[in-house]
Amino acid sequence: MNDFAQGAGGASDGAARRYEEEVPGIARESRDRLVAAAPDGEDRAVEAALRPRDLGEFIGQERVRGQLDLVLKAARARGATADHVLLSGAPGLGKTTLSMIIAAEMEAPIRISSGPAIQHAGDLAAILSSLQEGEILFLDEIHRMSRPAEEMLYMAMEDFRVDVIVGKGPGATAIPLELPPFTLVGATTRAGLLPPPLRDRFGFTAHMEFYAPAELERVIHRSAGLLDVEVRPEGAAEIAGRSRGTPRIANRLLRRVRDYAQVKGDGLVTREIAATALEVYEVDGRGLDRLDRSVLNALLRLFAGGPVGLSTLAVAVGEERETVEEVAEPFLVREGLLARTPRGRVATPAAWSHMGLTPPRQRGEGSDGSLFEE
Ligand SMILES: Nc1ncnc2c1ncn2[C@@H]1O[C@H](COP(=O)(O)OP(=O)(O)O)[C@@H](O)[C@H]1O
Ligand SMILES: [Mg+2]
Repeated sequence: MNDFAQGAGGASDGAARRYEEEVPGIARESRDRLVAAAPDGEDRAVEAALRPRDLGEFIGQERVRGQLDLVLKAARARGATADHVLLSGAPGLGKTTLSMIIAAEMEAPIRISSGPAIQHAGDLAAILSSLQEGEILFLDEIHRMSRPAEEMLYMAMEDFRVDVIVGKGPGATAIPLELPPFTLVGATTRAGLLPPPLRDRFGFTAHMEFYAPAELERVIHRSAGLLDVEVRPEGAAEIAGRSRGTPRIANRLLRRVRDYAQVKGDGLVTREIAATALEVYEVDGRGLDRLDRSVLNALLRLFAGGPVGLSTLAVAVGEERETVEEVAEPFLVREGLLARTPRGRVATPAAWSHMGLTPPRQRGEGSDGSLFEE
């Protein structure tokens, strides 16, 4: 079991890189999309340099930041380890970053692993038994841990103790093992999948929200400074509007726009440069990419806005059902462009106007297909 590394900074980022490659759900979403929320190879290489190092540098998420600041200050004042922290939220919103900030603020070392990397209770026991006092244990994708490991974690979180089972069958004995006090920081994209006994053992739960455009503009200006790119405020606003509320996407779009500005211009990122560059990469004004637009296009043009079944829609787009459902739809639903109804997928009025199309006259007697009639 060596899926974790000691110490903050480079080494932990190395571990993060390895396990994220092993998570199949993340691999599917990536698909070389410029607007994927999961990290791609290039992100992993540059993210370490762009990560805010302390709470003061962390942009947005005011509520989470304020609460976490209190939790950490209080622990420091007591000279104790901080309560266990659960970070939940969509990919790319700053969970890994926050876990590293917690370690930095507590001046504690951090150990990084993930649910998928811990398949046996023994894997977890090995990690737990080598923790130092006050160490931060970051478990990413914590909802994907195996059941036996999860049960061992309950006891470790509550009593800083685990029972290590030695031997098999009737002769097996449980040897209690004392652990030094530590702080568990769990991250999950699916808080709803966490068993209540696990959720209840976190002293502090932070739910991360998508970022407002103004916050993304600040993320972009900060990253531009670190990458030595000159960005006009309108250029940052243009990129922010296409970043789907997600700092990771904002940073990635900024890098693509920078490339374009260097090759086609003098390196300065203006509004025009940003807009033209992102059109080249097929990311539209609202952050929809080619896949998103082809789903909307099929729904609007071939099925008059629906309702249409998922499988039929997928065939029309030429994609797998799962791709449409898991990769394209969540963002379209979040943006209020598409609705999933019991009778199938339906386009909203906003979808028609976003795609520059006029909805057909409502047919016939009212209730049918008139879900969004004025
Ligand atoms: N609040 C923030 N302020 C500035 N940059 C951020 C913020 N949140 C995330 N980022 C940037 O976005 C990238 C992805 O963040 P990360 O913590 O890896 O997300 P997650 O672990 O939730 O998928 C990081 O490189 C970081 O630079
Ligand atoms: Mg992460």
